[in-house]
Amino acid sequence: MISTGLAMNMRWIVFTAVNVMVFVLLPEIQRCDGLGVNWGTMASHKLPPKTVVQMLKDNGITNVKLFDADSSTLSALAGSGIQVMVAIPNAHITAMTNYNAAKKWVSKNVTRYLFHGGVDIRYVAVGNEPFLTSYNGSYLNVTFPALQNIQKALVDAGLETKVKATIPFNANVYESPVENPVPSAGRFRPDIGDLMKDITQFLNQHDSPFSVNIYPFLSLYLNKDFPVDFAFFDGTDAPVVDGEIKYTNVLDANFDTLISALKGIGLNDMAVMIGEVGWPTEGDVNANVPLAQRFYTGLLKRMATNQGTPLRPGKYIETYLFGLLDEDAKSIAPGSFERHWGIFGYDGQPKFQMDLSGQGQNKMLVGAKNVKYLPQQWCVLNPDVKDRSKLGENVNYACANSDCTALGYGSTCNGMDMEGNVSYAFNMYFQVQNQNEEGCFFQGLAMVTTKNASQGTCEFIVQIDSHSPVVRPSMPLFLVSSLFILLVHLLAI
Ligand SMILES: *[C@@H]1O[C@H](CO)[C@@H](O)[C@H](O)[C@H]1NC(C)=O
Ligand SMILES: *[C@@H]1O[C@H](CO)[C@@H](O)[C@H](O)[C@H]1NC(C)=O
Ligand SMILES: *[C@@H]1O[C@H](CO)[C@@H](O)[C@H](O)[C@H]1NC(C)=O
Ligand SMILES: *[C@@H]1O[C@H](CO)[C@@H](O)[C@H](O)[C@H]1NC(C)=O
Ligand SMILES: *[C@@H]1O[C@H](CO)[C@@H](O)[C@H](O)[C@H]1NC(C)=O
Repeated sequence: MISTGLAMNMRWIVFTAVNVMVFVLLPEIQRCDGLGVNWGTMASHKLPPKTVVQMLKDNGITNVKLFDADSSTLSALAGSGIQVMVAIPNAHITAMTNYNAAKKWVSKNVTRYLFHGGVDIRYVAVGNEPFLTSYNGSYLNVTFPALQNIQKALVDAGLETKVKATIPFNANVYESPVENPVPSAGRFRPDIGDLMKDITQFLNQHDSPFSVNIYPFLSLYLNKDFPVDFAFFDGTDAPVVDGEIKYTNVLDANFDTLISALKGIGLNDMAVMIGEVGWPTEGDVNANVPLAQRFYTGLLKRMATNQGTPLRPGKYIETYLFGLLDEDAKSIAPGSFERHWGIFGYDGQPKFQMDLSGQGQNKMLVGAKNVKYLPQQWCVLNPDVKDRSKLGENVNYACANSDCTALGYGSTCNGMDMEGNVSYAFNMYFQVQNQNEEGCFFQGLAMVTTKNASQGTCEFIVQIDSHSPVVRPSMPLFLVSSLFILLVHLLAI
């Protein structure tokens, strides 16, 4: 349980009775009110949504942020008590500039789930980081009108006090000027300054928070001169001095740059939530388990003590970790680390020790239960093959159609010999192909083995069986209840 500071949080006070009940029923679970996770689903093999929801509950995670409004995900969240942010993907923002489309979206993807025992939807995200410079301004003209329509649709549905519309922004919508690079000089990016002002004032008028994604890992990744310690929370020799304030970590400095930008448009007290924050575990020299653990330990401790930032001391910040699970089908345009942001691996098992309550205890998160895996077999290079001239093209094919990012420099599978590399690639493809026989052919270069092919730090995975039907409580019970329903119907007639 996060201690004292949380008492200032209204929601905590309101839900005290509920929390007490939970403690009575499940005394070992520590609930972390306001601690959320981002649940992305860009994976070749997805865990059943019900399995994931159980995992969230087992870890006391109270808030979840989605990137769409997928009906199987939302059905699994029904009755869980977990607070949910649903989202309109960027590709659908333009459609929402039509009010009727926005109204339909809210009706189908929000109102529909708000029955008793349904989904506790609290936010609708309009787009995801729509003003990234890499989108070349594609969403600059449509995002605000879409937000206004969604807000109006929420009002018309009578939901304006329960469900808030917001836009998850990337931290690059604000900055400090080059000539005065300190948080107190923060301002919205001049090229979108007027738009950001209009949007932010609109959000504030409707009591919606400003939502921002902050990535200390990316600060380090994108800037070779970045002082490593400044990305973490255990002090640095080179703090950023801003008047009386000494910033010792980039998260605070970044957050306060936003606070200054808000102040600049007269919104001193506007609520801010961190929509994404986290650290990846593969795909770069700084993306690994020890650094991820160092980052999360510091972050969670800070959240627990509720100290806030120099410009927002003591205030409670709703925070969503990024992300819940590894996603092997994400684009690696930003970097190989992109598929390895999960605090859980692809199969819902924890990667490292993490204490969500912020007490820094050495304990593991509770992994997904009853995960069904494919058979324990791997695809490897056939050692009897003599002609190796076609290895290159086959490895390229395997990696282009699966995830070989763990082979790269700084990752756990880097440093194997050539045979190891080839086998790793073959196996990743074979697993993505659900271990189909044809998935381990490669012009006769490959063979299936039941001997665990993992080497050293490099795990050769066995994929999860995501094609099996969702596990029901038990077949007889299911049959009995169907029979019962049938009988009720017959008797009614
Ligand atoms: C509701 O959300 C789903 C999933 O994101 C989307 O495919 C669908 O088009 C949305 N419904 C409407 C009516 O816009
Ligand atoms: C943005 O522009 C660049 C360069 O012109 C182009 O390569 C890229 O595909 C564009 N991106 C989008 C999302 O339109
Ligand atoms: C956005 O609107 C401006 C001004 O009307 C226009 O110049 C620009 O081309 C528009 N951008 C897009 C991506 O439609
Ligand atoms: C194995 O693959 C990695 C990543 O492509 C590469 O850096 C490394 O040099 C390869 N090793 C050998 C021995 O080919
Ligand atoms: C294979 O071996 C690795 C490394 O010892 C281990 O982590 C992994 O769990 C094993 N896989 C299976 C399916 O037993």
